[in-house]
Amino acid sequence: MKRITVINGPNLNLLGTREPDKYGAETLGSINARVAAEASRLGVECEFFQSNSEGELVDAIQGARESDGIILNAGAYTHYSIAIRDAIAAIAPPVAEVHISNVHAREDFRRVSVIAPVCRGVIAGFGADGYILALYALSGATPGH
Ligand code: DQA
Repeated sequence: MKRITVINGPNLNLLGTREPDKYGAETLGSINARVAAEASRLGVECEFFQSNSEGELVDAIQGARESDGIILNAGAYTHYSIAIRDAIAAIAPPVAEVHISNVHAREDFRRVSVIAPVCRGVIAGFGADGYILALYALSGATPGH
């Protein structure tokens, strides 16, 4: 059975009440439950982790190095954390970078991702469904295949 780790970074614990115009009204708990339900349909085992701390995210990425893939929304760290980039580069499993909002349609600083070059791919702008799309991509279950 494939094992996928879903890691969310800073302020994503506030989903549901945080800037709903940009991030929607769904809580992280509800998003994780949707991912878990889809994962069980696909026969994929999922683990979930969230932290506001850069070092804890680095630890979580390292801790997932034996898994088959990581779905990562690094939040604002996406735009400047070399430590998170290096953690991704240091491990073998593919990482799907996810953003709920379309970071390219927002402030200039959000257009820069220091982690994208070491990720397998990037999904941005499809709301919380981006996590499900990433699950499909990493588990090789994309419809049409
Ligand atoms: C985000 C986009 C980031 O720029 C922002 O700092 C976040 C959320 C997204 O999911 O759209 O915290 O990663």
